[in-house]
Amino acid sequence: MIIELKNAKKEYIDGKNKSITPLNGVNLSVEKGEYVAIIGPSGAGKSTLLNIIGCIDSLTSGEYSLDGKNIEFYTKNQQADIRNQYIGYILQNNGLISYRNVYDNVAIPLMFNKKVKKKEYKEKIEAALLSVGMQDYRNRRVNELSGGEKQRIAIARALVNNPDIILADEPTGALDIKNKVSIVELLFQLKSKGKTLLMVTHDMEIANEFKIRYSFTNEGVLSQVGGTIC
Ligand SMILES: Nc1ncnc2c1ncn2[C@@H]1O[C@H](COP(=O)(O)OP(=O)(O)OP(=O)(O)O)[C@@H](O)[C@H]1O
Ligand SMILES: [Mg+2]
Repeated sequence: MIIELKNAKKEYIDGKNKSITPLNGVNLSVEKGEYVAIIGPSGAGKSTLLNIIGCIDSLTSGEYSLDGKNIEFYTKNQQADIRNQYIGYILQNNGLISYRNVYDNVAIPLMFNKKVKKKEYKEKIEAALLSVGMQDYRNRRVNELSGGEKQRIAIARALVNNPDIILADEPTGALDIKNKVSIVELLFQLKSKGKTLLMVTHDMEIANEFKIRYSFTNEGVLSQVGGTIC
């Protein structure tokens, strides 16, 4: 099992001292190479779940194991290395630095990767841009790009360290139908490379493309819907 959450709980205390539990006993098992869609209403906890899996945030209680090892076993620095080298995260709002060019944006995860030497950057960035069909855009500023082009750059940045796991938070949310289809196709092409994908989407047409689908059906509870029910 590449990702395993057991009775996972995440509690936030809001500004008025009120408790919010977007994850309240979540169980989730994902095998290496599986493609999983996560659906559910706004505010249900989808981004919270990806942030936990992406080691950006930690659980209040319960267990999160990555490749069979409880994440709590690692120090914060080790978790940062795992996040950087093992997980590619396409953020809900793409998270690109708009005033920098494409090359600099895709370079960011490499700068935090101790295993990659500076002289290797160019080759890796160019390979990542080629894989999303954006090889001619390396010197363009991000704020000059369309929404679909930005999303491709966000995917290139998520892929540049060749991660095993890809987390995509609503990657087609702001796109028209043509761009939506091409981004989904791009992500599905990665399946042949053995990647594992967890994708949050509000779009049922896209969700239905996935054999494995989970939904936040009750408050803080994630259930498998459709597909191969375990
Ligand atoms: N850092 C935080 N502090 C307090 N509450 C938070 C924090 N982050 C998220 N929340 C709350 O947790 C709940 C789940 O948020 P989350 O961002 O996971 O929702 P979501 O399912 O991704 O929604 P959307 O579809 O709108 O992106 C919301 O009620 C949100 O207000
Ligand atoms: Mg969200």
